[in-house]
Amino acid sequence: MKRRIAAAAALSWLLLCGVANRKGIASDQTGVTFDNQIVRLLQKHCQICHHDGDIAPFSLVSYEDASRFGEAAQTAVEKKEMPPWKAGAGCGQFDGDRRLSSEEIQQLADWVSAGKPEGDPHDLPPPLVFTENWPLGQPDVVLEPDADFQVNIGDDLYRYFSLPTDLRGDRFLSAIDVRPGARSIVHHAILYVDPNGKSKKFEERDPKAGFESTGGADFLTEGAVGWWIPGDPHGFEPDGTGWLLPNGARIVLKIHYHVHHGNGGSDRSQVGLYFARTPVRKQLRVLPVANTDFVIPPGESHYKLNASAVIPPGQNVHALGIAAQMQLLGREMQVQAAGTDGATRCLIDLKEWDPHWQGLYRFKDPIPLSSGARLSLSAFYDNSEGNSENPNFPPQPMHYGERTTDETCMAFVKYTLDAESRTLSTPEISGIDVDSSGQLIVSGKGFLDGADIEVNQQRVADTRNHKKKAAKRLLSSAAWTTLISAGHQVSITVLNPDGVRSTAVSFSR
Ligand code: HEC
Repeated sequence: MKRRIAAAAALSWLLLCGVANRKGIASDQTGVTFDNQIVRLLQKHCQICHHDGDIAPFSLVSYEDASRFGEAAQTAVEKKEMPPWKAGAGCGQFDGDRRLSSEEIQQLADWVSAGKPEGDPHDLPPPLVFTENWPLGQPDVVLEPDADFQVNIGDDLYRYFSLPTDLRGDRFLSAIDVRPGARSIVHHAILYVDPNGKSKKFEERDPKAGFESTGGADFLTEGAVGWWIPGDPHGFEPDGTGWLLPNGARIVLKIHYHVHHGNGGSDRSQVGLYFARTPVRKQLRVLPVANTDFVIPPGESHYKLNASAVIPPGQNVHALGIAAQMQLLGREMQVQAAGTDGATRCLIDLKEWDPHWQGLYRFKDPIPLSSGARLSLSAFYDNSEGNSENPNFPPQPMHYGERTTDETCMAFVKYTLDAESRTLSTPEISGIDVDSSGQLIVSGKGFLDGADIEVNQQRVADTRNHKKKAAKRLLSSAAWTTLISAGHQVSITVLNPDGVRSTAVSFSR
């Protein structure tokens, strides 16, 4: 009770301050202009999506842009519709939270009510530079579909692309990133590892690039490993951790195409794989919390679905992030973890679900979950006529499926095992030679399948293991010559797929 009174007092104090602030200092005296403050706010929170050619329907870069959309921007931030961020306060603390502070929201309101003054151009910060390149630098391997996919005006669909990897051995990755081909129509992307390559047959059956999926494939409900949404700051995975890509696995890229503005277009998005940068002691894993066996009856406006999963016995884990998946009928989702001691903890609480923004929410601090803990998901759906997003009029019974017009009820929890500490490989170089046919031969021991020769830490593209002496001999037929010019001393290392690098040996041609 006491706490409630204190909270109420604090709230009214805040309100009074707000009023005093607004009344006491006439808005034109707050001195807020586009050039001195608003442009900085837009750079920090909005421009990553609101610049020409990107996903948002208009730019918020120049004074003219900002002035034209000033009132709309104010409304969108006051209603917390922009920037898009669906995780409710009071449950979980996440990295990369883009929301504005109440001071920033007030600042925008002050600027609008002062008549959106432009200010003094001397106050302007340098403009942001937007790159369509890979934010993490050039990936070690870039995968892409064989052909473009055509998206037409009005389209709102999912397309799946099955991409072979062919990395010669099991491989740990420090990052998997997506680089959209046509940024204005690629709304989000989810990446799956398909360990047995089952997606290949779907791809081959469909004459166009990629395929449509109605669901049911196990990689879709078990294997999500990556999420891309516009503006999400992408980083490498924590040191010592990595995603395992088994030899022969395929990556399935699921893209949500949605034409907000313009005429559609053709897209060929790429997937970038970044090999493990540090020795990997812990594998990154994903625990699905999924319900794929349900019917949401037509006419129901607040229909609840549940799903649960248990942390396997004997395994304490740390959860690093969580991603939810629902479609057009989804409204809310909450995931709780209940320990065997009865203590519960809220992992995420998504309000006003919007299927456009399906990303991974990364916990600020990894969350410990003990063996036997139960993760319980509860989600609410609106399958009534009152839901303007309902794909069916009149509403129809909705089942699990993987199209935009089906429904899903899933969350994926990304985690590591506390007790896991993988034995690391020990690659060692003992000799470097060029044979009579011009092949570079690096001999030594402890080379794993898929190990790479590196020149000054740059991967030699055509490295392969010797057929019989795979662990002792690596070869490059041609690519090495482009990296080593005659007479120059370079440093040669071997990088194993578990992220362990040999000591460097110097070499000159
Ligand atoms: C992560 C990308 C992203 C960021 C960041 C972002 N927007 Fe948007 N914004 C969009 C997209 C996409 C739309 C189109 C509608 C949708 O998909 O929700 C949009 C729509 C809008 C609209 C149209 C009305 C509405 O609410 O749909 C306004 C106004 C707006 N944004 C203002 C802002 C402002 C102001 C900021 C920064 C404080 C911001 N946005 C940050 C992507 C973004």
